[in-house]
Amino acid sequence: MMNLNKRILTGDRPTGRLHIGHYFGSLQNRVKLQDEYESFIEIADVQALTDNFNNPEKVRKNVRQVMLDYLSVGIDPNKTTIFIQSMIPEIAELTVFYSNLVTIARLQRNPTVKTEIAQKKELFGDSVTYGFLGYPVSQAADITSVKGTLIPVGEDQLPLIEQCREIVRKFNSIYGEVLVEPEAILSKNARIKGLDGNEKMGKSLGNAIYLSDTDEEIQKKVMSAVTDPNRIKKDDYGNPNVCMVAYYHNLFSKAEDTKSICEECKLGKRGCVACKKELIQNIIKELTPIRERRKYYEEHMELVDKILLEGTKKARKVAMETTKEIKKAMKLNYFD
Ligand code: TRP
Repeated sequence: MMNLNKRILTGDRPTGRLHIGHYFGSLQNRVKLQDEYESFIEIADVQALTDNFNNPEKVRKNVRQVMLDYLSVGIDPNKTTIFIQSMIPEIAELTVFYSNLVTIARLQRNPTVKTEIAQKKELFGDSVTYGFLGYPVSQAADITSVKGTLIPVGEDQLPLIEQCREIVRKFNSIYGEVLVEPEAILSKNARIKGLDGNEKMGKSLGNAIYLSDTDEEIQKKVMSAVTDPNRIKKDDYGNPNVCMVAYYHNLFSKAEDTKSICEECKLGKRGCVACKKELIQNIIKELTPIRERRKYYEEHMELVDKILLEGTKKARKVAMETTKEIKKAMKLNYFD
């Protein structure tokens, strides 16, 4: 049953193709939620530019890549409205209005922004741009422009949702009750580890398996995944708890198979190569239907563009209505 009282809004920065971390961490959940709630997904190209302003080609190219990833995992355009951020000028307009409702000190204290600035020293040097520091304000505009009330995100996004809630409260207290405070929905596999054992799988870390990887790429990546460093010979006792191959078996293989694989590893009865080969087969099995759908859409890019354009038009209509209400509350409706 559709619950029409709440509306989903999520988004991704189009800076690369999506990987299995996105798949388990958010995409699977979005596919499920689109049957329960009216759903919007934003391709956040303006936000992507906040730390890629010097690389517009990268952002442009990845808008369609991310779109192909969405369609290939089963985001259904009849249920989910997918739109491009920069084509909704109302979002930029709301960002300006909201920027009065948040202080610079508050933005600087935002844990997500703080961590990201520290990671981007090379780009920003000692002084971060106004645009990057302010992207939480723009994200609040994304969410409220389509009246998103449920925001499925990973843990790293929680401070941004909190900041949005603060902006909403402040807006409502000054201009009247127009906006609704959104709530985050945390996905259970919010963070998937990388092939190298890093806590996060990420495109910039080079430790990801992409949804669009070929059989050969998957094979090569799994073969180089980090395993128990103390296990040198096949009959050494292994420790699956420190092995990335065991970790991915948990995601891709049947529970009973994973259990016996790990038992055999602990007893030194199953070698890493055999274990990796089985994982490769299971990953390929899971990704094959996804890659087949991707191929279909790649061969029908005019259809992909049509879906994207229609979604954007629909989202724009909603954003225009919301902005009208907001401007009225702010007494900016001179000729009504
Ligand atoms: N900041 C999000 C990320 O990096 C992307 C995003 C943009 C988003 N606008 C959003 C997420 C609105 C949720 C709601 O993943």
